[in-house]
Amino acid sequence: MTKGYIHPKAQVWGKVIVGEDTIIEPFCVIHGPVTIGKNNLIQTGTVIGSPAEHRSKKTGNSVIIGNDNIIGPHSVITGATDIHPTTIGDGNLFMAGIHISHDCIVGNDNTFSHKVILAGECAIMNNVNLGSGSMVHQKTVIGSNSMVGMGSVLTKDVFPYLIVCGNPAKFHKINTHRLKGYRWSSDNDSNKIKFKELITKKSEEIIHDIREFHKYSGKRGKQRVIYYEEGLN
Ligand SMILES: CC(C)(COP(=O)(O)OP(=O)(O)OC[C@H]1O[C@@H](n2cnc3c(N)ncnc32)[C@H](O)[C@@H]1OP(=O)(O)O)[C@@H](O)C(=O)NCCC(=O)NCCS
Repeated sequence: MTKGYIHPKAQVWGKVIVGEDTIIEPFCVIHGPVTIGKNNLIQTGTVIGSPAEHRSKKTGNSVIIGNDNIIGPHSVITGATDIHPTTIGDGNLFMAGIHISHDCIVGNDNTFSHKVILAGECAIMNNVNLGSGSMVHQKTVIGSNSMVGMGSVLTKDVFPYLIVCGNPAKFHKINTHRLKGYRWSSDNDSNKIKFKELITKKSEEIIHDIREFHKYSGKRGKQRVIYYEEGLN
């Protein structure tokens, strides 16, 4: 069923469902089975649902995309193996040339700047900001409301509400910008203590984000988490 607008110069193969008000620009290629929700803008040259990039596993599932996403020009979102579909939620902004590999799960309202690369089976929660050219190791989990600096290489999971950067990426500071309504100091260490207090006082929103993070994190061992306190990762 196709209710969106597919430009005549885009190619759509197999079973592809495109929701209302979704626009697929010229020179996109969509390999079904792919389900795309409402009001998405898929910009020119984007490829969705191409076979999973895996030597030993075959493509079993494809791609599910929610509503209100912008997918920048020349991006690639590949189909999944037999784990689960490569899944994108709602309200994400992906800038030009991003690459989302097989079996990744991307939540809602995330911003991926130009040329972000996710290797296979990553999970990006909600409201995450990935700086230009950042690269994420396979099976990595990025907690909600965190930010990754441009050009970073992420080899560990990222606890929610942190800013991390570098190669390999390390803790930079607490993402106070995402913790509006609380008072913050200019001193990084004071903010770490304050953040710890918020967690122990069980600020509901933060606890929810941490719970969601732990659902997915730790697949590669608890040692592989960038945390807000030195010595605990
Ligand atoms: C990570 C980031 C949020 C940090 O911002 P900030 O807290 O204002 O950091 P500062 O500019 O004060 O830099 C602090 C230190 O971190 C370093 N640093 C900043 N960004 C870095 C990055 N991406 N990778 C490695 N180191 C970085 C700086 O060199 C500086 O090091 P120093 O203390 O040795 O001098 C920011 O630099 C960044 O990468 N933003 C994303 C930009 C982007 O992708 N824009 C795309 C727009 S479309």
